[in-house]
Amino acid sequence: MAYYSIQGIQLTDLAKQFGTPLYVYNADKIREKISVLKSCFSNIDLKIKYACKANTNLSILRLMRAEEVEIDVVSPQELELALLAGYNGSQVTFTPSGVDFSEIEFAVSKGAIVNLDNLSVLEKFGQKYGTSKGCLIRIKPHIFGGGNEKIMTAHPESKFGISIHQKAEILDLVNKYGIKIIGLHQHTGSDIKDGKTFIDAAEAVFEFAKDFKDLEIIDLGGGFKVPYAPNDPGVNMEEVGAAMSNAFQEFCQKYGKKLTLWVEPGKFLVSESGTFLTQATVVKRDPVKTFLGINSGLNHLIRPMMYGSYHYIFNASNTDEAKQEEYRVVGNICETDTFSFDFKGKQNERLLNEVKEGDIIAMANAGAYGFTMASHYNSRFLPAEVLVDGGEARIIRMRETMEDLVRNQI
Ligand code: LLP
Repeated sequence: MAYYSIQGIQLTDLAKQFGTPLYVYNADKIREKISVLKSCFSNIDLKIKYACKANTNLSILRLMRAEEVEIDVVSPQELELALLAGYNGSQVTFTPSGVDFSEIEFAVSKGAIVNLDNLSVLEKFGQKYGTSKGCLIRIKPHIFGGGNEKIMTAHPESKFGISIHQKAEILDLVNKYGIKIIGLHQHTGSDIKDGKTFIDAAEAVFEFAKDFKDLEIIDLGGGFKVPYAPNDPGVNMEEVGAAMSNAFQEFCQKYGKKLTLWVEPGKFLVSESGTFLTQATVVKRDPVKTFLGINSGLNHLIRPMMYGSYHYIFNASNTDEAKQEEYRVVGNICETDTFSFDFKGKQNERLLNEVKEGDIIAMANAGAYGFTMASHYNSRFLPAEVLVDGGEARIIRMRETMEDLVRNQI
C-alpha cells in the first residue's frame, strides 16, 4: 500500500519543497471518486452534495464545483466558503444541528436550501416564512450504523434529526403554517460498509414520505466507507448504488412522481486523495518498545486519537523493504498522541521500512477530516496544504507564522 509519488512527483520532493507537516491532495483521485460514485447509480435523477466538513479548502471546493458536485454545509462559515468558491446559494444545502434560528435565517438570506432537524426550529421556520419557502427536514430513523459510536447519527439516542416517531407533531406544524416540505433527509453515520444499513435507512424514509405531498427530494446522506486498512475493501459502492437506485425507483413509482435522490458523501470523495507528510524527529529505542516521534500530533490529525482510527503509515524516504522494524508512531504534543492504532481501536506498533531521524513519514487516506479537524493545541502551527493537479504541485494553504497565532489576541 506504500506509494512514493503522486502524479509522478516524489513525496520526499514535496516535503523538501513545501516543508512538513503537509497535507497533499491528489486532484485526479477526487475526480475519479466522483465519477465512480456517479456511475454506481443508474436510471434515477441523482445529485451529489459534497459534505464539505470533510475538507473545506477553497481549491477542493472549486474542484467539486467544476465537476458539477453541489455542496452540503453545516455552519454559516462553511456556507460563506462555498459562496467564495463560486457556488450559488441554491446549490448549497445547510444541514446544521442544534443551531440558533438566526443561522437558518442567514442561510435563507443567501439563497441556500435549509434542512431542519428540530421541531422548535421547524415552528419558527413556519412562523417566519409561512408558505413562501420550502425546506428539507432531517429525520432520525432509529437505525444503528457507523464505524464507531461517536460517528453513529441515526440511532434512538442520537442528537441528530427529528425522530420518526414524531411524525404527527411535524404534520401538525406543516398544516398549521402551510410549510412546504420539499425534501426528507437522513444520515445514518460515517464509515458504513454494510449495504443493508443504507437500504434499511432508505426504506424508513420512504415509509415516512407517504404523508408528505410536496416532496421533490429524498436525501439519504453520506457515510460510504473508504478502505482505511490494507485488507478492508471499504463499501461495495457498485452494489450499494444499484440497491439504492432500485429502491428509489420503486419508491418514485409508488409516490407517483419522479423525485431527485441526493447523497452527501464526504470521506468517499476526498479521503483517499489525501496524504499527510510528516518528518521523523526522533527514533527512541526504549527498552520496552521503539517509538517513532514525528513533527505532528493530535493537533493535526486527530482521527486515531479521537476514534482509534486506522491510518496506513509508511516511510516515504526508504523504499527498501528488506529491513523493517516495528515502531509505535507518536506525536510531539503533550498528550499520548499515538498515530498507530490497530483495526480494533488499540494503540499498536507498525512495521515500517527502517526509519532514520529526518525521514519523511507519510499517512494515507488523510484527505477527509484531517485538516478540518486540526487545532492549535500546544500553540503549534497548522499544517500547510498542497494540491497536485495536472502533474504539478501548488500550495493551497500557506504555512502559518506567529502572526497568525496572535492575530486576535489583545
Ligand atoms: N451528511 C451529514 C449530515 C453528516 O453529518 C456527515 C458527516 C456526512 C453527510 C458525511 O459523512 P461521510 O460521507 O464523510 O462519512 N470526523 C469523523 C466523521 C464525522 C462525520 C460527521 N458527519 C471521522 O473522521 O471519521
